[in-house]
Amino acid sequence: MTEGPGTWLEERTGARTVWETLFLRKIPKVNWLYTLGSATLFVVVNQIVTGILLTIYYVPSPQDAYDTVNFIDSSLPAGWLIRGMHRWGATAMVALVLLHMLRVLYHGAYKYPREITWITGVILLLITLAFGFTGYLLPWDQKAFWATTVGTSIMDAVPGIGDWLLRAARGGEELSAVTLSRFFGIHVWILPAALLVTLGFHLYLVVRNGITEPPRRKD
Ligand code: HEM
Repeated sequence: MTEGPGTWLEERTGARTVWETLFLRKIPKVNWLYTLGSATLFVVVNQIVTGILLTIYYVPSPQDAYDTVNFIDSSLPAGWLIRGMHRWGATAMVALVLLHMLRVLYHGAYKYPREITWITGVILLLITLAFGFTGYLLPWDQKAFWATTVGTSIMDAVPGIGDWLLRAARGGEELSAVTLSRFFGIHVWILPAALLVTLGFHLYLVVRNGITEPPRRKD
């Protein structure tokens, strides 16, 4: 009997085993609240795709940032759609990640053996908020400029290292071209890399430990 392409591939790569482990694993009877993590994952993919598309036209310098964002919005075919999906996606991601966290908290799903899943989750939450903070400056309009001026000035209140933190965030005393390129670099390189590594570990643990059953009242 000749072997099919599926078996051929399985013997050489283990592709079927990977597929079955990821998508055909047994899960308990759950409800809609359990889809909040996957909904967040969907938005993460949206942010990556639309974010990459935005970088094709966006230029992170004080001379060009505002004009290139304006160009994307008003002249580029479907540019308004891509930018809108990225902007609204950012808001949706913060809302969904918080709701997902509340679901986990409500069900007590952070308990043994899922403590590390919870800790990687906390890191993902911080990364999500940092995405929002750094992304907000990028259009370099009045709102972005002053919101970041206020946001970074709060760092000054940290005891001992406040002044250092403020200068590190701004790249000097005031907001400048250095701040913009610093925020851009963090937004498109450092945070996505941190997100992908942490998320990979988070999802590995979800598959490894399985998901919790919704708590039920004992008969
Ligand atoms: C980018 C952000 C995140 C993504 C994409 C994500 C994704 C997921 C997915 C797909 C699941 C499977 C079950 C479900 O959907 O409920 C899950 C489970 C879990 N997540 Fe997240 N998550 C994120 C952030 C967080 C945060 C902020 C926390 C908590 C601080 C957290 C803690 C957990 C825990 C403890 C589980 C296991 C739940 C169980 O076994 O019932 N996650 N996550």
